[in-house]
Amino acid sequence: MESRPANGDSDPNSNPVTNSVGPPSALTYLDPHYWDERFSSEEHYEWFKDYSHFQHLIKSNITTSSSVLELGCGNSQLCDELYKDGIVDITCIDLSSVAVEKMQTRLLSKGYKEIKVVQADMLDLPFDTECFDVVIEKGTMDVLFVDAGDPWNPREETVSKVMATLDGVHRVLKPDGIFISITFGQPHFRRPLFMDPKFNWSMEYNTFGDGFHYFFYILRKGNRHIEEKEEPEKHQNPPINMYQDELEGEDYLFRTSIDAEEN
Ligand SMILES: C[S@@+](CC[C@H](N)C(=O)[O-])C[C@H]1O[C@@H](n2cnc3c(N)ncnc32)[C@H](O)[C@@H]1O
Repeated sequence: MESRPANGDSDPNSNPVTNSVGPPSALTYLDPHYWDERFSSEEHYEWFKDYSHFQHLIKSNITTSSSVLELGCGNSQLCDELYKDGIVDITCIDLSSVAVEKMQTRLLSKGYKEIKVVQADMLDLPFDTECFDVVIEKGTMDVLFVDAGDPWNPREETVSKVMATLDGVHRVLKPDGIFISITFGQPHFRRPLFMDPKFNWSMEYNTFGDGFHYFFYILRKGNRHIEEKEEPEKHQNPPINMYQDELEGEDYLFRTSIDAEEN
């Protein structure tokens, strides 16, 4: 595997990163040791896009009094940016103890004392029922899909891990809470999972990004009044005019493991 620029964000104003080698295969992202090792030497990596690209969507959905749970914070600065926007009741979790320790140190050094950082598995959330206004994840659930096989018919094991995560998210959300999922996963792949009949949330989404679009899903708990008519969505291949810096980004490796199965 050749070395590649590790910055998945094409924004020249984003912070520098220190990791310079991607993993040998997207399947590596399923290995917790990979993340521990990576976070030992990497200070910041922003998956997909940084906050400035979707800040407007955050601001129209989260208020400064919201309690927020972030799944799989890694060494992202999403929580810092939320904090700077006045959202201080934030709990971050990550499976990696290294990520958690480094995140705690970084946030304390900035004086962001209210942000809690906890080592936890998103498949088994250690929080009370109905205790958060917002749960947010950026690129974290995508890790569960790297060995999904055919994205139109994901493996049973993948579906069961995704469902364990969604069950937990739905449980910890307050009755009118929202789940925000920021991903490259297209609606025709996500909808059947997000809109399982056992969930009482509605689903809507926005897109952001240049060249390759990312999706900003908003699932509103308690808002599923009328069963949406299931309409099969058009199968879209990724746009071929991706910018070169997008192609070089590490998240391209992430995406191709799924896109390759489509064709
Ligand atoms: C692709 S990175 C995304 C990091 C960050 N959200 C961002 O936007 O840059 C995936 C993150 O999920 C974490 N992770 C993987 N599996 C997890 C799990 N089961 N529970 C919690 N975190 C997990 C990894 O340690 C890593 O930090």
